[in-house]
Amino acid sequence: MKIFITGGAGYIGTHTCVELLDNGYEIVVYDNFSNSSVEALRRVETITHKSFTYISGDIRDETLLSNSMVGCDAVIHFAGLKAVGESVAKPLEYYDNNVNGTLCLLRAMQKNTIKTIVFSSSATVYGDPEFLPLTEDHPLRTTNPYGQTKLVVEEILRDLYASDPQWKIMILRYFNPVGAHESGLIGEDPQGIPNNLMPFIAQVAIGRRDYLNVFGDDYSTHDGTGVRDYIHVVDLAHGHLKALQALSVPQCTAINLGTGTGYSVLEVVKAFEVASGNNIAYQISPRREGDIAACYAHPQKAKELLHWSAMKSLETMCRDTWNFQTKNPKGYG
Ligand code: NAD
Ligand code: UD1
Repeated sequence: MKIFITGGAGYIGTHTCVELLDNGYEIVVYDNFSNSSVEALRRVETITHKSFTYISGDIRDETLLSNSMVGCDAVIHFAGLKAVGESVAKPLEYYDNNVNGTLCLLRAMQKNTIKTIVFSSSATVYGDPEFLPLTEDHPLRTTNPYGQTKLVVEEILRDLYASDPQWKIMILRYFNPVGAHESGLIGEDPQGIPNNLMPFIAQVAIGRRDYLNVFGDDYSTHDGTGVRDYIHVVDLAHGHLKALQALSVPQCTAINLGTGTGYSVLEVVKAFEVASGNNIAYQISPRREGDIAACYAHPQKAKELLHWSAMKSLETMCRDTWNFQTKNPKGYG
């Protein structure tokens, strides 16, 4: 089976490429390298001892896109912009890339009669939770343009399926992906100052940043700091394999990919100190605008429909993040 992977050079994409190649799939990666590098794909080849086709192109270039997917059987769609703050400042760029880009992709798929797609959505579509853990039928609403693009694409996919029930569509709602491949060859390589907790902590541990700002210690959580469902990126990548396997029959299904366990910011700091053997300096700062107190998944639907559960612990997530950070102190360079 040949899988067309948009955004396959990115953080989650590269780990999924490894998973697919290790399991005998053929892949074609299509990426404009706006937030990634060819080096990451070379490293996928090193890890798997396999080579594959990669094409430098934008998903909004419908002709190149359509020609590039000839002969593929299914699509995994990672390509998109993902920084919440930036999406507030540049909403048009986000709608164009994430929504218009996906429309181009779906048209190109129709042209090639490829009707199987796995889409990267996010737990951000649940907004501020009304109840926890989050089940897939929790009301959907978002608080920023990035989240809105995910929700709009989900709706487009549901409408597409309603119009043509031959489609096989899996919408995966990721919680907080962290960690890296155990080889330390691929991992998260954020440009500039990291927005997310785990890469920021890793940079403090290695001395690139002086201290972590803990955004708020007065939330209604057990220690007052924000609680999230961190999931190892290799577990997440494995979830994509299971999603493809579950798409043997037509459907349009949304599924949470999380562990079901929430950890606070201070718990992550402590776990990282143990994994790295380094002290993580931090100071308590005001809450970050738009943040919620707690967010974690009900992972049962994934277990039932995908026969998948996250396996890796917070300790492993920290260990593998640290391994990637120490082996690549300046990312892919
Ligand atoms: P990433 O930025 O590392 O990967 C995205 C890839 O898409 C990059 O390689 C980038 O160059 C490429 N890309 C962007 N726009 C493109 C375009 N117009 N044409 C072609 N390629 C394009 O991000 P990631 O963390 O790997 O996330 C992958 C997907 O998962 C994204 O859609 C993201 O919104 C979603 N997601 C990520 C997280 C997270 O925390 N990492 C959480 C929930 C959902
Ligand atoms: C962020 C995004 C969300 C996206 C998710 C996964 C925002 C507002 N939301 O969510 O849309 O789906 O990433 O990639 O950006 N924290 C600190 N100090 C830091 C960084 C974070 O204390 O320097 C805290 C946060 O307040 C939060 C927790 O750490 O409680 C996790 O933050 P982060 O990694 O940014 O993820 P989310 O806020 O869950």
